[in-house]
Amino acid sequence: MLRLDDVTKIFFAGTANERAALQGVTLTLEPGDFVTVIGSNGAGKSTLLNIAAGKLRPETGQVTIDGKDVTALADHQRARDVARVFQDPMAGTAPHMTIEENLAMAYERGKSRGLRRGVTAAKRQLFARELATLELGLEARLKAKVGMLSGGQRQALSLLMATFSEPKILLLDEHTAALDPQRAELVARLTAEAVERHHLTTLMVTHNMEQALRLGTRLVMMHAGRIILDLDAEAKSRATVPDLLHEFEKIKGAGLDDRTMLQ
Ligand SMILES: Nc1ncnc2c1ncn2[C@@H]1O[C@H](COP(=O)(O)OP(=O)(O)OP(=O)(O)O)[C@@H](O)[C@H]1O
Ligand SMILES: [Mg+2]
Repeated sequence: MLRLDDVTKIFFAGTANERAALQGVTLTLEPGDFVTVIGSNGAGKSTLLNIAAGKLRPETGQVTIDGKDVTALADHQRARDVARVFQDPMAGTAPHMTIEENLAMAYERGKSRGLRRGVTAAKRQLFARELATLELGLEARLKAKVGMLSGGQRQALSLLMATFSEPKILLLDEHTAALDPQRAELVARLTAEAVERHHLTTLMVTHNMEQALRLGTRLVMMHAGRIILDLDAEAKSRATVPDLLHEFEKIKGAGLDDRTMLQ
């Protein structure tokens, strides 16, 4: 479904500020894989997602979606196949538009051209039904401006917008990190439900190791631009947070600061 082949990304190449964000990363996601990605700050997690989304072009290597080489395609050219939710609740939605206008925009993204734009009665019904699944009462507030919603409500809406056009690939970059524990838990649960319901192939970055172990079907650990651990469902189900910390210690040597990972 999604394949990254020996992908390298270097920022400020040839200058004193050169940063190798990804160093020969190879990762294959089969349809329905739900991979959680952990790693310390600067490990290359967001860069990996940006390469998959087409927001960044790799220096070397290849990105393939469903067998098609998309390495040279920009993010908007992959938008029908790839959806994403960011860490910042303000990033995924248009604050000055209403809930139903935001949903209509996301809905049309996945459809072929020529379909009627705007919010019809039928669409409004569909939106209300979808919003009701979030259990936040947003179905009664279709005409409310999204800027009036709380961060947790906006993340839940972003997630709905990202998933209901049924992309092939869902990219989540610490999308629960800015939320209070209760809302983070809600959005994590909604994520698992949406991935299951729409059979999405998913990459989810998180600093919460407990969440990384609980959610998904596979776990990848990154360090210094490389994948240093790749656990399948079976190995993941047996792994514990101390196991993951131990793996980090091995690669980083002594003196790992747990808080970097657990924050
Ligand atoms: N746009 C950019 N310009 C220059 N350097 C960048 C850029 N984006 C990332 N980097 C560098 O690439 C490396 C990897 O960054 P990346 O954002 O992928 O890390 P991350 O694993 O997502 O970290 P975090 O957990 O802090 O979000 C870092 O050294 C970072 O400084
Ligand atoms: Mg990041």
